[in-house]
Amino acid sequence: EEVMAPTKTVQPPVHIAAIAHPGRGHINAMMNFCCLLSDRGDFHISFVVTEEWCSILSSDPPPPSCVQLCTIPNCIPSERGRAADMNKFLEAVQTKMEEPFEYLITEQLELPVQAIVSDTYLPWAVAVGSRRGIPVCSLFPMAASFFRALNNYDLLPVVVAADGDVPTADAIAEFNDHPLEQYIPGLHPLRSSDLNTVHAVKPLKKILQSFPWLKKAQCLLFTSFYVLESVTIDSIKAQVPCPVYPIGPCIPYYRFNDKTNTDQDHYLTWLDKQQKKSVLYISLGSFLSVSQAQLEELASGLVASQVKFLWVAREKSCRVQKIVGKSGLIVPWCEQLKVLCHPSIGGFLTHCGWNSTLEAVYAGVPMMTFPIFWDQDVDSRLVVEKWKVGMSLKGKIGKDGIIGKEEIALVVKAFMDLDGDESKEFRKEALKLKEAARNATDVGGSSYNSLSIFIENLSANLH
Ligand code: UDX
Repeated sequence: EEVMAPTKTVQPPVHIAAIAHPGRGHINAMMNFCCLLSDRGDFHISFVVTEEWCSILSSDPPPPSCVQLCTIPNCIPSERGRAADMNKFLEAVQTKMEEPFEYLITEQLELPVQAIVSDTYLPWAVAVGSRRGIPVCSLFPMAASFFRALNNYDLLPVVVAADGDVPTADAIAEFNDHPLEQYIPGLHPLRSSDLNTVHAVKPLKKILQSFPWLKKAQCLLFTSFYVLESVTIDSIKAQVPCPVYPIGPCIPYYRFNDKTNTDQDHYLTWLDKQQKKSVLYISLGSFLSVSQAQLEELASGLVASQVKFLWVAREKSCRVQKIVGKSGLIVPWCEQLKVLCHPSIGGFLTHCGWNSTLEAVYAGVPMMTFPIFWDQDVDSRLVVEKWKVGMSLKGKIGKDGIIGKEEIALVVKAFMDLDGDESKEFRKEALKLKEAARNATDVGGSSYNSLSIFIENLSANLH
């Protein structure tokens, strides 16, 4: 038995290799998590990205010095290639990154890697860890509800109807409007139609293989927080064999507190001049977009609404600016969290990527949802029907598959109306969620405590 108090020695920082699926939403979630971790303990984090992503990230605010970018070669299609052929890109992520990752962490990094934190969508990272005897912690950068649905995908009637193969269009149509809760408990108020774009992804089977690999993971981390999805989180805890830690919202506090605005932040100066809660912020994430026809209707509808707006139109910025003239400010990219937390922002038209959704929750900003792909319909359903902090634009889509400018003008006006009954209700609920998010991350809150336990358990299981 241990009787003598050990003499205090200075321990070197724990060396972690972090790897995210190569996409903005995933990388941001992982980076925020690493920053949070470095704030709470003594870590050295090798943040593994492709060379292309290393160069993209060089224009972001730099992470703390204990988080270092390490590269593997560009072994997957480029960002442009991803837009051109999503299925090919997803396939390559599943098959081409394992080898260079393993080589990097075992042969190239100076210090031995003691633990891996990997995106749940990269099952091969768990395989590398098992092979090398390095514990792997799995981070799921989307809603716990979406995790629950994917983790039980084989229980869905569309899959059963398709006899284990990809669901047919008929099967999808038949089960389109059923509550998911009927098949997978813990998923109220989601509906089968919320997974329609998921069924259509070609390498879906390969992606779903991520889930059985969790049996070999040390733990499962969520960027969600308990109050947001409590019933679902409890049902996941009862189902998966490892500890589950909801530690979100994973917000980069240190970056956010950096008050030094650069020249590029002219949009913040513009926001300073607008009235409180008067501006609608529009962003459809980092890589998805809508059809040209929809883009034009959206732009014209916004102008007609006479609501002030700030729109991240990425590569379409010039085209959109031509349509809207001086009615709104168009930027190719912005510091979204700073924008969402600006007092002039009164609403967010979003594609409902999970990071954007969480950032809006954190900022207390109501959402108009326009989900496009993968988990976004699920997030939209949570926003509208569970948390009641916004409305969906999807129901406004006409027979031609787009929402016309007149309709857009009407809903935007009503949504941004500070005196409207419905919009007042959204703001009230959004404020409550904002408070819940702060409570979760403050000292002693649910996410704060989850992270403490995670760190304790991690240290106890080191390589
Ligand atoms: C992807 C998927 O599409 C999404 O459904 C999934 O939940 C996460 O991965 P993405 O589409 O890029 O992500 O959306 P989102 O999750 O919202 O992530 C975008 C990130 O980029 C956010 O953190 C947002 O703050 C940031 N961003 C976006 C900026 O910093 N500036 C911008 O101008 C636009």
